[in-house]
Amino acid sequence: MDLQNSYFEIYGDNDITKYRYNQLISIMDKAKKNRKASLKKEDAKGNSWYRSEKMVGIMLYIDRFSNNLFEFEKRIDYLTELGITYVHFMPLLKSREGNNDGGYAVSDYLIVEDKYGTMEQLEHVIGLLKKKGIRTCIDFVLNHTAKEHVWAKKCLEGDPDYNDMYIMYDTDEIPNKYEETLTQIFPGVAPGNFTYYPELGKYVMTRFYEFQWDLNYRNPQVFNKIVEVLLTLANKGIDIFRLDAIPYMWKQIGTSSMNLSNVHKLIAMMYEIVQQVCPSVIFLGEAIVQPFEIVKYFGTRDRKECNVMYNASLMVLLWNSLASRDVRLMYKSLSKDYGIPDDGLWINYVRCHDDIGWGFETDILRSLGCDPEQHKQFMIQFMEGKFPGSFSIGELYEFNPVTKDARNSGTLASMCGLEQAINERHIYKLELAVKRILLLHSIIISYTGIPLIYSGDEIGQLNDWSYKTIKENASDSRWLHRGKMNWEDAENRNDLATTQGQIFKRLQHMIEIRKSNVYFSSDYKSIPVDTGNKSVFCFHKEDKMLVLANFSEHEQWVDSRAFDWFGLPGEMKDLITGRQIRSYNNNILLGPYEYLWLV
Ligand code: GLC
Repeated sequence: MDLQNSYFEIYGDNDITKYRYNQLISIMDKAKKNRKASLKKEDAKGNSWYRSEKMVGIMLYIDRFSNNLFEFEKRIDYLTELGITYVHFMPLLKSREGNNDGGYAVSDYLIVEDKYGTMEQLEHVIGLLKKKGIRTCIDFVLNHTAKEHVWAKKCLEGDPDYNDMYIMYDTDEIPNKYEETLTQIFPGVAPGNFTYYPELGKYVMTRFYEFQWDLNYRNPQVFNKIVEVLLTLANKGIDIFRLDAIPYMWKQIGTSSMNLSNVHKLIAMMYEIVQQVCPSVIFLGEAIVQPFEIVKYFGTRDRKECNVMYNASLMVLLWNSLASRDVRLMYKSLSKDYGIPDDGLWINYVRCHDDIGWGFETDILRSLGCDPEQHKQFMIQFMEGKFPGSFSIGELYEFNPVTKDARNSGTLASMCGLEQAINERHIYKLELAVKRILLLHSIIISYTGIPLIYSGDEIGQLNDWSYKTIKENASDSRWLHRGKMNWEDAENRNDLATTQGQIFKRLQHMIEIRKSNVYFSSDYKSIPVDTGNKSVFCFHKEDKMLVLANFSEHEQWVDSRAFDWFGLPGEMKDLITGRQIRSYNNNILLGPYEYLWLV
């Protein structure tokens, strides 16, 4: 990929572009010069480290996990005990006071939030993690900054170097044109895509919250400034940058301003810059869009973009299978060829800090005889806990009273039935809930890609209803599933008589197996298999391993002739229990929510 050509292609061949391009080169040169010898040593080995079976991630908010970076140091052993090899620190850079969308409204990219610690401390922690074989990931919020960011201040003061860093207009003429085709991201809590500030006499583009001002990537200075930040942070030793909300980076009147081709050009340029300055660093892209759009963010062979992407499709399909006890949608959707490049890799997760939106392949749903709208309503109500017989307890997110559309919030454990079981003191339901939690993890740990656990889920933490008493958070139900880590409960993690122990120990065991078996490396693709049983999901890893997972609370019989090329029951062994698989007239028995990793 030719950086210079791409730069001029996007920004036009003129004197300003020439000036900015030279500025970009000097930013890169400076970063190269400042890169520590130890990091350069890692750079020499390239970036293929992320494809290893050893990769297992956890995501956490520092304050929710350990109050601050200082106390975090004492918790590193907990992470190694679980088998974690990469930590994603949720936004930890300085963000605006008051509501800051969980840190996604950054007011200074080069300062660590006071309450978490300092940049020196962060560097120190990164070093400690490295010694334990743990990589560090941070959020890089590059679509917008807080309106309090110094770039916004300078832009408003009329500093010529910061002109046009944001998207603002004196009248509503252009904003209105944009609005005709833009979708709403937070229609309830932050409707519209522009905010009028009477004191400034300006309409500013604010696609997320009002206090998050969209950066104007049509201005090469924005690109340069963001690259400068990226490289400065990379030189602190960060291995993975989670590129936040990338689909929205380029805006164009008359379009949805999502996934536009120039976004891909911008990311490809950033990727190339990383190759030239700090090639051991990788990008994790956050693009929660349709599957065929997500895969484009892997880029192409000659124009790479992100190394890893969130597998939002798998995540929603897992919940769908659990709620409906029917894996056919998952089987059919995952069997579809989306043209993922060979080196494109998924982050597999069961939930994150955000809500869950029900983006299914509607054609496949119809082919299964489901009405897509009705099915979505089923999921919304099931996950909230309103559908008769549902085991889940959650909340709606961004409910639209007119269309009844909504997304859902809730922790893994609560949505798997643990909260309901505890409320009802129902021992049998409790057993089932634990089994569901483990079943979902068994898929993300074995399916090709990198498993990412949300901190607290490893001990089955329940919903945190206290968010409703915190003024800034009360209207955003995503705080329901971002509760504080309960260290007292974590003390039970080695006691198999407790739910915490049952979840933690079994998860730890699965991770151990994954890390010691090369079939879990990213070189082995997962290929779905139709077993003929609609409750049992099955996939093989290039003939080396076969996974069977029962998504129902009833025992299931699977006809082993569906995969007789893989082996006969008597010849197969389950990696998790070590037991030999028995055949009952060519049928294999799976207990409620049981999963087998067969070799
Ligand atoms: C991403 C984050 C989300 C945040 C948004 C705006 O989607 O995951 O939490 O609200 O970006 O930065």
